[in-house]
Amino acid sequence: MKIYKATDYRDMSRKAANIISAQIIMKPDCVLGLATGSTPIGTYEQLVDWYKKGDLDFSGVTTVNLDEYKGLTKDNDQSYYYFMHSNLFDHVNILPENTHLPDGTEPDSAKECARYESLIQSLGGVDLQLLGLGHNGHIGFNEPGAAFEKETHCVDLQESTIEANKRFFNSADEVPRQAYTMGIKTIMQAKKILVVVNGEGKADIVRDAFFGPVTPSVPASILQMHNDVTLVADAAALSKM
Ligand code: GLP
Repeated sequence: MKIYKATDYRDMSRKAANIISAQIIMKPDCVLGLATGSTPIGTYEQLVDWYKKGDLDFSGVTTVNLDEYKGLTKDNDQSYYYFMHSNLFDHVNILPENTHLPDGTEPDSAKECARYESLIQSLGGVDLQLLGLGHNGHIGFNEPGAAFEKETHCVDLQESTIEANKRFFNSADEVPRQAYTMGIKTIMQAKKILVVVNGEGKADIVRDAFFGPVTPSVPASILQMHNDVTLVADAAALSKM
């Protein structure tokens, strides 16, 4: 695993955006796996900035997002569909038909997860998967205890995740209880993985995930078994290694 230590959030975001840019420049028709959460927002801002300066072209890029809340409509400002459009897709020249997320409005979980998994396979897999890290070690919405061999599936969110994400909703009651997520197996099939982490609050989980034993109780620990993982973290997140 390659570890890049950033001085702060802005530096982390620029370093991560540089790695994504390099991927797009080297393979203009690449498939990017994208993530939501607060951590990658600065990375998307930087990519938009470089696009506006004429340094990046998204016209050949295809994206597949990690996850989506089950039950939220696309116009709900907490849906990941909304997040991706407002933070990236609406500001660059990516073709709308080339951006993909699980459809949270599809009530039939088995049907939607099978559709999404086969879509990823039909695109030839993910060239570069961007990941954030949950406080409990989750990646996508693969919560502790998730089987490593799972493909896209429907998950029941853990209380700690509902708690962590309630800040974006009016109350914890409004946070959806389920989500569709790429499974660990789907994530591990990406050719390259880029993990972004910042802040002291993630220092314990960074240590456990990347320097502790590989165990389903820390889902991100499986990344130690992938042959092309890059971790870009700020000094605070790396402070307990
Ligand atoms: C959510 C997302 C994850 C993300 C995590 C961490 O649960 N499903 O993909 O990595 O939050 O979010 P944050 O970056 O806001 O800490």
